[in-house]
Amino acid sequence: MSRKKVFAISGSTRASSTNLNLLKAIARLAEDKFSISVFDGLADLPHFNPDHDNDNPPKEVLAFRNQLRECDGILICTPEYAMGVPGTLKNAIDWTVSSMEFAHKPTALITASTSGQKGHLSLVETLKVIEADITDETQLVISFARTKINHDCQVTDEKTLGEINLLIDAFDKLISNVKSK
Ligand SMILES: Cc1cc2nc3c(=O)[nH]c(=O)nc-3n(C[C@H](O)[C@H](O)[C@H](O)COP(=O)(O)O)c2cc1C
Repeated sequence: MSRKKVFAISGSTRASSTNLNLLKAIARLAEDKFSISVFDGLADLPHFNPDHDNDNPPKEVLAFRNQLRECDGILICTPEYAMGVPGTLKNAIDWTVSSMEFAHKPTALITASTSGQKGHLSLVETLKVIEADITDETQLVISFARTKINHDCQVTDEKTLGEINLLIDAFDKLISNVKSK
């Protein structure tokens, strides 16, 4: 079977982001299952404005929506900022509320942060309200993430590595189930 197309979003736009490194680690760990493309336009999306959420949205928004539509599954890795979801990531998701690209799309969410619980729960609520197909097995919180994922994009903590491998398997199965329907 050919590899599944996964569209990945890092909720951090920092150049040496742990979450970006985690996405790269997952791309390597799951290279037999997924072809992962990492979104590089998060910071270029305009601020969400319902007045511009019409038949002629900004070109950056159209490109983002197309990438979401064309993939088999969406993988988000994000930090928590100020006990919530980073504004740039929430902004991107707000652009999809009316156009519904997340609806019924297999979705995996990892919150990799210092703590992360509150931001994670908030984002799960958002993903559920936009009808993303996310399960308990395709979500994970990695606390003290900077001590567990290094700059060479390796997961150095054995327990975390095991949890990520379980999430990869669950995400792979979720995508297979949706594709076979
Ligand atoms: C503005 C700001 C707010 C933050 N707030 C939180 C927070 O509420 N909870 C938390 O766990 N970490 C918080 N952090 C720390 C991040 O978890 C940590 O910097 C993490 O490594 C960021 O992810 P990144 O490495 O992918 O950029 C905050 C960091 C910044 C820059």
